[in-house]
Amino acid sequence: MEKGKMLVFVVLTLLFCSLCDSSRLMKNVESQNRRNLLANGLGLTPPMGWNSWNHYHENINETIIRKAANVLVSSGLSELGYIYVNIDDGWGEMTRDIDGNLVPDKKHFPSGIKALADYVHKKGLKLGIYADAGYYTCAKRMPGSLGYEEQDAKTFASWGVDYLKYDNCNNGGIKPLQRYPIMTRALMKAGRPIYFSLCEWGDMHPALWGFPVGNSWRTSDDIDDNWERMVSRIDRNDVYADFAKPGGWNDPDMLEVGNGKMKKHEYVVHFSLWAISKAPLLIGCDLGKMDDDTLEILSNAEVIAVNQDPLGVQAKRVWAGPLSEYRVAVLLLNKFSDRRSEITAEWEDIGLDPSTVVQARDLWEHETLERQFVGKMTVTVEPHSCKMYVLKPIA
Ligand SMILES: *[C@@H]1O[C@H](CO)[C@@H](O)[C@H](O)[C@H]1NC(C)=O
Repeated sequence: MEKGKMLVFVVLTLLFCSLCDSSRLMKNVESQNRRNLLANGLGLTPPMGWNSWNHYHENINETIIRKAANVLVSSGLSELGYIYVNIDDGWGEMTRDIDGNLVPDKKHFPSGIKALADYVHKKGLKLGIYADAGYYTCAKRMPGSLGYEEQDAKTFASWGVDYLKYDNCNNGGIKPLQRYPIMTRALMKAGRPIYFSLCEWGDMHPALWGFPVGNSWRTSDDIDDNWERMVSRIDRNDVYADFAKPGGWNDPDMLEVGNGKMKKHEYVVHFSLWAISKAPLLIGCDLGKMDDDTLEILSNAEVIAVNQDPLGVQAKRVWAGPLSEYRVAVLLLNKFSDRRSEITAEWEDIGLDPSTVVQARDLWEHETLERQFVGKMTVTVEPHSCKMYVLKPIA
């Protein structure tokens, strides 16, 4: 068995026991899967857009959301594929209305969510919203959707919502497999295709059961705006690489690029790792205050093209993965903080025949290297930095 397969095998075996109390439920999920539990046709490539959480947390209002939509368009980011404008926790009143419906916060969202959806749709964008598979959301400022799945899914559809992030707080100790598929079915009945983002923090290894349930699934708890936390999110996510495919992606959490606590070269690593890992590319900074470096990183069309490649194969450590047209994306990462390193990609480790001659395109320098490579490629990489290439076999 090759190393990657062996790792997956070991993980699966280890997980078996932690999942056995859910095995009956998993069978349920499987039998529903035969009728395609989640057949919404969405997420054929990883979703791209913006989400309010990483910068604003629950302190949001409709002005912030509208402004984010405006800047996505005016900055040119929407044309590069960033089309989801996602409202996270904090958009609702603490109590449901007399009919049990969720109510937008009257002070901070006085125009309501439908008006926001209409607003972003007119700009050619899509609107995302947030709910929780529990009794209250994580910020505890609004009710959760547990027990109200069908009603809330219908509400979201009636507002014109296109994306639902479904969190995992205050869940009464009920296992994710007893909560998330109920919302999947509710969304399927709601009459509008809604991208379904499972956010159970990797708790019950959702990569193993997520494909018929959601369009993506978080593989760990939250990211933070620092190097260690960022790199450890993608390392955990890497374990499940074999489970990612068009329609269902591993989600190492949203981007911190532009939030200010990492260096530019560290944000380049962050964005490159997320792109090559086919992670959702959800910007998490204040778009109105983006500096030139932030916009340059988020706008790198060559790196975005790796993320959005139709083959949809997640790259693995040593951080390489196949692209369409027999090309290979490779990312050479120097994790040392204090010294530059020579890093080598051996063709055998990145899925190329050792005799293959390739042309290398540097995705951050935007240049095709004059030298051709065969068998391996060695480059010098600065501390906490990376080089990212697309290798194209030449005849
Ligand atoms: C929304 O929040 C921003 C930033 O905190 C603030 O400047 C603005 O006045 C708020 N607008 C509304 C309508 O609450």
